Amino acid sequence: MRVVSGIQPTGKPHLGNYLGAIRNYVKLQDEAHDAGGDCLIFLADLHAISMPHQPAELHASTLEMVATLVACGLDPARSVLFNQAQVAAHAELQWLLMGTARMGWLNRMTQWKDKAGKNREGQSVALFGYPVLQAADVLLYQATHVPVGEDQKQHLELARDIAQKFNSDFAAEDAPVFTLPDPFIPEDAARIMSLRDGSKKMSKSDASDMSRINLTDDADTMAQKVKKAKTDPEPLPSEPAGLAGRPEALNLVSIYAALDETTPEAVLAEHGGQGFGQFKPVLAERLVSVLEPIRDRFVELRDDREALDAILARGAARAREMGRPTLDSAYRALGLVRG
Ligand code: TYM
Repeated sequence: MRVVSGIQPTGKPHLGNYLGAIRNYVKLQDEAHDAGGDCLIFLADLHAISMPHQPAELHASTLEMVATLVACGLDPARSVLFNQAQVAAHAELQWLLMGTARMGWLNRMTQWKDKAGKNREGQSVALFGYPVLQAADVLLYQATHVPVGEDQKQHLELARDIAQKFNSDFAAEDAPVFTLPDPFIPEDAARIMSLRDGSKKMSKSDASDMSRINLTDDADTMAQKVKKAKTDPEPLPSEPAGLAGRPEALNLVSIYAALDETTPEAVLAEHGGQGFGQFKPVLAERLVSVLEPIRDRFVELRDDREALDAILARGAARAREMGRPTLDSAYRALGLVRG
């Protein structure tokens, strides 16, 4: 079992990142540890430069993201925690895979289409090639489980396509260079939506801070955001079918269910018939009870820059070791001479 996943260190991590991905990093870290496998979680700082960015901000938010991940339960002694920029093999393997990835495949990526909008000509080449780096991230380590939210599913399917084509073009059938990775997507929290608009996903890049719960928000801010969350005037139904056509209500019920690790059915069995005036304070209370301990640990860890740097340096050294055999095989398979 080899668990691999990444998170961009841009902006503040939010509830969607936590319920959709980070919580599963921690679960799989423990499963991998018990099964004698490995868990590698990295900060996708190389991905972060595909969009305009402020270098000083990227530097600071990379260290803050390490503190957040540790606060969420990632244990640097059990997981390999690092940033891409310290492991050159990610960028090297991306280049090796560029010969295999097809323009048509990348053109179909919905994230590329959404981020580029009508201005494709004005985008960086890195934004277009972004999914190839993501493929390199997981293929480098022969990942078997990749915990992600729903929005990354298409990128992982592309990683499988790239691996399959590379293996069939350059490797013997009984000795593939790459393992085909499987996405590990939670059932209920795969897509947490904005608190201001139930049709948009909760996102670090949304201009409105009221659209998301940041893992670093204090209890009052969280409660305030839940109170102000967009809803409709109807009370909650007693069954999930009654949430059809009510995206904001569905989102709040899904968040509650995910926080409690239960199902929307169970939440509605208990809270059906309540108006949002009654439901929101209970939701806010749940949210605070899950996230406040994380925030407290984050506050303790964030200022110890030396300790955070040391975690990344140690993780990177291990990741370099773990990625070397696959990188060497990829060079060899392509016929490249390296002395
Ligand atoms: P990023 O940084 O946008 O998000 C990190 C993780 O959080 C999940 N996520 C969500 N889940 C549920 N609801 C939401 N509203 C929500 N928003 C984000 C994402 O699905 C992701 O799992 N390209 C990736 C980073 C990456 C990566 C990789 C991931 C780079 N290389 C290799 C896996 C494997 C990204 O930008 O995620």
